[in-house]
Amino acid sequence: MIVHSSVWPSHSPARVSIIGAGKVGSTLAQRIVEKNIADVVLLDVVPGLAEGMALDLMQARGIERCVRASVPEAYRFIFGTNNYADTADSNVVVITAGSPRKPGMSRDDLLQVNATIVVEAAKKAIAHSPEAILLVVTNPLDVMTYLAWQASGLPPQRIVGMAGGLDSARFQAFIAMELGVPTVDVSAMVLGSHGDLMVPLPRYCTVSGIPIAELMDNATIERLVERTRNAGAEIVQLLQTGGAYFTPAATTCLMVESILFNQSRLMPVSAYLQGEYGLKDIFIGVPCRLGSIGVESVLELNLTETERAALHFSAESVLKNIHRANEMLGVKLGNN
Ligand code: NAI
Ligand code: 2OP
Repeated sequence: MIVHSSVWPSHSPARVSIIGAGKVGSTLAQRIVEKNIADVVLLDVVPGLAEGMALDLMQARGIERCVRASVPEAYRFIFGTNNYADTADSNVVVITAGSPRKPGMSRDDLLQVNATIVVEAAKKAIAHSPEAILLVVTNPLDVMTYLAWQASGLPPQRIVGMAGGLDSARFQAFIAMELGVPTVDVSAMVLGSHGDLMVPLPRYCTVSGIPIAELMDNATIERLVERTRNAGAEIVQLLQTGGAYFTPAATTCLMVESILFNQSRLMPVSAYLQGEYGLKDIFIGVPCRLGSIGVESVLELNLTETERAALHFSAESVLKNIHRANEMLGVKLGNN
């Protein structure tokens, strides 16, 4: 008979809590457990949803040939709950809770419904995991990241939003599809807000080191830039219910790995700016090094006047929505 130690697990593996067990949250959980990089706690407001998903993921361990020993029910390393106490001592908390877009909606249309959800999630999760890095996915991304920072009270480098990596992956895929080259040979860069005003940067896109301007004409580049800006909406339109989740989950997983394993990966993420790029008191997509302290540094690219103006235009819209959200939350707080 195999007897479990009463102090199981004897060592503490990293723990990632995912708030919101919908499409993005559950797909992210699947990636993390299949890669076996951390314990996962899935939390959702819908009773039973996260528990059911966790149990389903647990039952795939044999098929996935996971070599970690199974543990007693109370210590399950894929755990579903609707109680924030179960997320305690997480190394990373990912917020995916909230509504996705419907066809015809912009990400900004989600501001009202998602603001209170994200504020509550950030407050409750960080109360139980004060040392965690907080990674925000919920839209409108840059505004939600700002609200999560305000609500959590954490230093700004411990909060990061996922979007630039996703938008860059889309640009990368479109360039690869156009040229018929392996996607992995393409490197692409998208800055700015995660919205209609995002700033794809063709000047920083290469195929095995060759600038794309040497491989395609301006009209083609402009067409791919436009498709990148609309890539989320294109999928919403096709799916009709909800938005993309495979690439969002893959990008978020990459960020989680860079944080957990202190990889210092350089990627565009929504980070707090304090004068970089001439912008202050805002979260917006810029290239950053991501490690165990969160955002290690912001890389300032030498942008042209036009690129810088586009980034500032994008930032204006984020700032406007931060003010809108704060007014809205202020009214709500005043009423409670
Ligand atoms: P979904 O509708 O499949 O899942 C959302 C989940 O959040 C649901 O299970 C819901 O029950 C849960 N939820 C709602 N209120 C909650 C609360 N107060 N506490 C805990 N859980 C709560 O949506 P999906 O597709 O997973 O997208 C989630 C969010 O992520 C959306 O806002 C979407 O727009 C955004 N998103 C952002 C991306 C980005 O690049 N930053 C990419 C893809 C999605
Ligand atoms: C996307 O770009 C919905 O923001 C999400 O697919």
